[in-house]
Amino acid sequence: MKAISDILPHIAYGGDYNPEQWNEKVWYEDAALMQKAGVNLVSVGIFSWAVLEREEDRFDFTWLDKVMNILHEHGVGVCLATATASPPAWLSRKYPETLAVDDKGVPYSFGSRQHYSPNSSIYRRAVKKLVTKLAERYKDHPALKMWHINNEYGCHVSECYSQDSLEAFHAWLRRRYQTIDTLNEKWGTNFWSQRYNYFDDITFLSNTPTFPNPGQQLDYKRFMNDSLLELYMVEKKILRDITPDVPVFTNFMFEFKPLNYFSWAPELDVVTWDTYPDPREGTPEAHALQHDLMRSLKHGQPFLVMEQVTSHVNWRDINVPKKPGEMRLWSYSAIARGSDGIMFFQWRQSRAGAEKFHGAMVPHSGDEQSRTYREVQQLGQELKQLDSLTGAVVPARAAIIFDWENWWAVEMEGKPHNKLSYLEQVKAYYHTFYRRNIAVDFVQPGGDLSSYDLVAAPMLYMVKNGEKKNLEQFVENGGTLVVSFFSGIVDENDRIHPDYYPEPLRHILGIHVEEFVPMAGGEWNQLSAGTDHYRCTTWSDVIHLETAEAAAYFTEDWYQGRPAVTTNSYGKGKAVYVGTEPEQAFIDDILTGLMREKGITAPASAPPNVEIVERTSGKGNHLVIVNHNQEEARIELDSGRSYVDLLAGTKVENEVIVQAVDVLVLRQTEQK
Ligand code: GAL
Repeated sequence: MKAISDILPHIAYGGDYNPEQWNEKVWYEDAALMQKAGVNLVSVGIFSWAVLEREEDRFDFTWLDKVMNILHEHGVGVCLATATASPPAWLSRKYPETLAVDDKGVPYSFGSRQHYSPNSSIYRRAVKKLVTKLAERYKDHPALKMWHINNEYGCHVSECYSQDSLEAFHAWLRRRYQTIDTLNEKWGTNFWSQRYNYFDDITFLSNTPTFPNPGQQLDYKRFMNDSLLELYMVEKKILRDITPDVPVFTNFMFEFKPLNYFSWAPELDVVTWDTYPDPREGTPEAHALQHDLMRSLKHGQPFLVMEQVTSHVNWRDINVPKKPGEMRLWSYSAIARGSDGIMFFQWRQSRAGAEKFHGAMVPHSGDEQSRTYREVQQLGQELKQLDSLTGAVVPARAAIIFDWENWWAVEMEGKPHNKLSYLEQVKAYYHTFYRRNIAVDFVQPGGDLSSYDLVAAPMLYMVKNGEKKNLEQFVENGGTLVVSFFSGIVDENDRIHPDYYPEPLRHILGIHVEEFVPMAGGEWNQLSAGTDHYRCTTWSDVIHLETAEAAAYFTEDWYQGRPAVTTNSYGKGKAVYVGTEPEQAFIDDILTGLMREKGITAPASAPPNVEIVERTSGKGNHLVIVNHNQEEARIELDSGRSYVDLLAGTKVENEVIVQAVDVLVLRQTEQK
């Protein structure tokens, strides 16, 4: 298969297009407006099952044939959707067992969307039929660029408690454990008399009187992730067989807890995701983290923003529009961090239905002079000048360990502290890198760390088979690893690693932890590091030094004077342990010190709230600069380099001004 940047040689620009909501006359108007706006790609048919298969086996593709032809005539490529995200009424009526069931045992009703059970064999059979028909019909259509499989798996229904799902869970457990004795051992079922004699004895944990078995909870989450992924694979296989050269993907959502996107990414030809930051409360930093995570899922390969909104959504309590310029600015943040596409939900604002007040590229009025359409048009024209960016990667020497299974496990109940948020810990470490414009990837604990010099592992509670070795090797080979509190505690079944905490990390960190002292909200302790003092909250570890040295001490409570932060030399590298949740300034200080040691620097120096990201490929080195401030920003560039400003066409050297709420895309021209 060709590289995505060969299939999409321009920054992809467009959105979800739902022509079945309009008549043929509007289709032509749409295509003309798309052309004017520089649209080159649309996703068609995401919710079209009911108009593609009107009754079981009664297919009607005539309208879609026309739409595909019109789009092609206007130079617009198509991500053709497989239309399986919202099964039609006839399927739910005829086969009620295709409906997903909630944790109270109640089937979801027809009348919104995503009401299918991922484990229903009848739903899967119907999916196969529809997808095969679509693929056969459009396999040679010149407009077909990619396949958009289903839509946002798990968004509304990420757990299913149907009979089909229970049987599938049993089969999944049999595959994983082979014997019931192994399962009992892994789940620790001798606790509270939870021992099972047969796989078929296992029920869902939907209504237990108190804390359910942790190993079982964790496996249910894995099972649901795998069920949805398997469903995706059913479609992918058909599409691959019939159209081996057409890339396939589904659209992800941010850091969505129920789905382990690292396990999905290898099955997508390109990662795509839907981004909806709240213009009232969302921060560029939170948004940037999500883009960086999406880029990391396929190890740095560019991703596509598959949906965002031009102005406002309709599903928050208060849905304010993005301010003038904001949509453009946030689009460039995505591009800076590795996106090769800016797509929207949706092309034309709906007249009817649950999302009629959701923004779109063309508003209800259809007015070409509307602010929304003008901004859409401006951005579309601008992006045409950025072809050299496509395929470019974001080189990063720093990474943060991120692991969905760890996230699931550490936030299950019954812990020393039951208000821990994994994401909050990750965000604290991300903040330091973001604020300093240091490119950072996310990587799994067992992932390839060889290209990084500095890796932070916040709250890595679960350390699975093989991960210990991977982290040890990274440090042995000269890397710097920073680990924070409540790490290295359990195995993949949420069973304690025997021996001292944190057993799998004990040798690299050169410490052991004897006790945990969680703190309630409002309580705090203090760190003393040389002459500096920092506040810390949430948690203190009672640490014993083995080979490590103390870098900071607790100053209060019965464990005052004991180490809070430690440093250990291991092989050619170094491992730092932070046994508490320090105030941000401490994390900033410690990480910036370590970056200094490693010579990790930003691509240029800039005032706060200006993002600068380097993207590089055989087509050139680029700097994408996004100024979120209400005033202009002066950027000092590397004096050894000259650039061309791709949007203005001018030459740039030494320093450059980026206007308030504005962007610059610079391409390096020569080395002086
Ligand atoms: C996404 C979904 C779209 C649309 C959009 C509205 O989650 O994929 O179909 O509903 O939200 O914001």
